[in-house]
Amino acid sequence: LRVGVQGVELYRGQNKRGVELGPKAIRDTGVVAALRNVGHEIVDYGNAPIMEMQEEAVLQERLVASGGRQSQTVPESDYNGYLNVHYVKQVADANRMISDWTSKIMRDGRVCLTLGGDHALGIGTVNGASQVHPDLGVLWIDAHSDINTPLTTGSGKIHGMSVAFFVQELQPYMTQLPEFSWVQPRIKAANLAFIGLRDVDPAERAILEMLGITAYSMRDVDRHGIQKVTEMALSKISQDKKRPIHVSYDIDSLCESIVKSTGTPVPGGLSLREGITLLEMINETGRMVSMDLVEVNPLLGSELDAAATAQAAKHLILGAFGHSRGGMALNSIPKP
Ligand code: ARG
Ligand code: MN
Ligand code: MN
Ligand code: MN
Repeated sequence: LRVGVQGVELYRGQNKRGVELGPKAIRDTGVVAALRNVGHEIVDYGNAPIMEMQEEAVLQERLVASGGRQSQTVPESDYNGYLNVHYVKQVADANRMISDWTSKIMRDGRVCLTLGGDHALGIGTVNGASQVHPDLGVLWIDAHSDINTPLTTGSGKIHGMSVAFFVQELQPYMTQLPEFSWVQPRIKAANLAFIGLRDVDPAERAILEMLGITAYSMRDVDRHGIQKVTEMALSKISQDKKRPIHVSYDIDSLCESIVKSTGTPVPGGLSLREGITLLEMINETGRMVSMDLVEVNPLLGSELDAAATAQAAKHLILGAFGHSRGGMALNSIPKP
């Protein structure tokens, strides 16, 4: 395959520093060389230059009425009018560039592999990928459903809202933020599926139910096994088996016991083997056009935890790009 790798040092979609070091931590595992050994032709485009636009704007204090009773002073960066959405401009501007990079890499005829960075980058990668493939299906592998809207979010973190930006049928319920007006919500609710859920807010569950979105929680994985769940998810989002697929893989879909260096770990998740199996099955469809690997934060946990988390990311990526755990066939080894 022709593959394009981009690093996205996004961290303003959540509140823990260190996730911007994810792309380096993942590259340092040697994953690009390992992918070349699988036989792929790879261009590493480096990291998109988004660090400057994420820097904290001057903290302007703005008076915001609270409950119509008292007034309180809050940092401008925390509020967009009365909405609790953090770092709107920083995350929006960075995503606009990520969208352009993603569509450019794909128009170069490459499968786009995006190394994160926090999961708010999915707004940009899905927008870019769906620009090239308007019939795109999305598999969101995550402990969380990341489908809060600016009105339902409790945390204000945009990485918990990424999906809401691109689902077509959700737009009538979305508070439109001018900074994100360039986003085209091209993904139909029927062409989206979740796997790995175990920490979903009540309002998020209401949205999933309202739109009838396919969502397999860890309970479903326990019931049916990862192979059946992956088969069901793939056939739900693409009954004719033709739709191009974007995979957005949040490392926190894996169990907290194996992946400790991530911002919002949740117990009881996928094993590394389940994660690899799932991605191998997606690879076998031959229709994966784009993949995100996000939320690796090497500053959380011990150094050993950080290494284990980055290693997990490497093995997931290898599974998604056709590495065979049973050994590669001789004729698949690239010639010097
Ligand atoms: N639902 C929570 C929120 O809205 C957690 C989101 C966690 N998202 C993630 N990409 N790790 O903040
Ligand atoms: Mn807030
Ligand atoms: Mn996520
Ligand atoms: Mn998550």
